[in-house]
Amino acid sequence: MKMIMVVDDEERAAIEVSLILEKEGYTVAKFTDAASAIKTLEAVQDIDLILTDIRMPGMDGTEILKAAQRSKKPVPVIVCTGYGDVETAVNIMRSGASDFLCKPVSSKELLVRVKKVLENSDLAGEVVALRKRLETVESSDALILTGRSKKMVEVYDLTNSVAQTDATVLLRGETGTGKELVARAIHDSGSRKNEPFVAISCTAVQHTLLESVLFGHEKGAFTGAHAPHVGKMEAAGSGTIFLDEIGDTSLDIQAKLLRVLQEREFERVGGSRMMKLNARVVAATNKDLEQAVREGEFREDLYYRLNVVEIRLPPLREREEDILFLADHFLNLFKRRYQKDIEGFSPSAVNQILDHGWPGNVRELKNAIERTVLTNPRRWIDRIPRLVSSMRAHEEICPCAKMVNRVSYIEAKEDCAEELEKAYLTHYLKQEHGHINRVADLMGVSTRTVARQMEKFGLDKSSFKDRKSAV
Ligand SMILES: Nc1ncnc2c1ncn2[C@@H]1O[C@H](COP(=O)(O)OP(=O)(O)OP(=O)(O)O)[C@@H](O)[C@H]1O
Ligand SMILES: [Mg+2]
Repeated sequence: MKMIMVVDDEERAAIEVSLILEKEGYTVAKFTDAASAIKTLEAVQDIDLILTDIRMPGMDGTEILKAAQRSKKPVPVIVCTGYGDVETAVNIMRSGASDFLCKPVSSKELLVRVKKVLENSDLAGEVVALRKRLETVESSDALILTGRSKKMVEVYDLTNSVAQTDATVLLRGETGTGKELVARAIHDSGSRKNEPFVAISCTAVQHTLLESVLFGHEKGAFTGAHAPHVGKMEAAGSGTIFLDEIGDTSLDIQAKLLRVLQEREFERVGGSRMMKLNARVVAATNKDLEQAVREGEFREDLYYRLNVVEIRLPPLREREEDILFLADHFLNLFKRRYQKDIEGFSPSAVNQILDHGWPGNVRELKNAIERTVLTNPRRWIDRIPRLVSSMRAHEEICPCAKMVNRVSYIEAKEDCAEELEKAYLTHYLKQEHGHINRVADLMGVSTRTVARQMEKFGLDKSSFKDRKSAV
């Protein structure tokens, strides 16, 4: 049964309208002043429609409209006006009222309009609810950490047990192995889950600005600081601050972070007020931090502060049983997202997936499956487009890769990870004619990473360009 709120300072008019509605089977809550109507609206959740006069002494109908829009479940409003008041009514419609009626209202007209607004509102409510359900299913699916290898089961166990504590966690692992996903899982399964999760990539921010992004700044702290700024540490409140790519921070920032972790307080740049660090700290890196410590690029004391609990995300090539499992998981995810009618992978596609070495790890696999789902015209997936065969790539570059079968190939891979990395990069650069953006996309890494690796291996993009396609 629909509940309608009727508000009119003229009691007779309110009674008249209420009677018409009640006769039709609606439940009516009648008010002669806006203030008590708003109070009730804020206190109860089951009002389906409001019929209100505009001109009332004290608070008027516009206040009711605002309150109806503020309420948890927005309530549709029909505004009733006197004849001379059409202009106000038009303005009110612009502010979001569902309809308006001129007084005196005929009972037939009243019932038709009420029915229509209620029907529209039911429909809108259904659409919102459906969309919400779809979004939560989608996003929770996309954020599920999955895999069934022994190594991943160990990761889940560790993630679950540290989530229940406040310990600082350091996540290690190659690019695309799921470090950020684990950081979120730690946050989402602990007691801070309803507080903010704030991530900051220490390399995405310009070196000189990182301090202010992390800790905030006061107005006038430096040229260009026109207004005070809340830093990520402050924004994280009692939630989680995720310091991504911590291994790439400067020694200067490292010293500041160390102090914050030791004292559990910080101040904004140019400020003098000490603020408490209430957030839990989770950091991640794909760098060899021990080597960076040995080479004086990373502070040893900060390393120990961060490394209270360490979770290592294994690369995909070390958990081969996860590859097809994850491929299936992503196939289902993207099939649903793009509404594609696909049955699964054909045996040759499976071979292709297993033969690839996944240097970009889960991100590369996820990108490859998304690309495949989008472009595959058939019910079965026959091949994964633009995927480089790792065995071929490896054989081309690495003299140790004279393997006779898959097993020796997998063993060989462990011994020459660097050569393999170079082999992939060379292969992708050749295939994509030196287009770094495309290579990064295929490998599931950033263009910065590709550029860094090219420098490391002394590869020059101009040597991969063909004459027809310039970069
Ligand atoms: N075990 C997993 N299950 C499902 N999805 C995963 C898993 N691991 C990673 N992913 C997905 O792969 C992508 C890359 O993961 P993520 O961003 O967490 O990697 P990362 O280790 O932080 O990489 P980088 O070092 O490059 O920042 C994301 O889209 C993530 O959702
Ligand atoms: Mg990351």
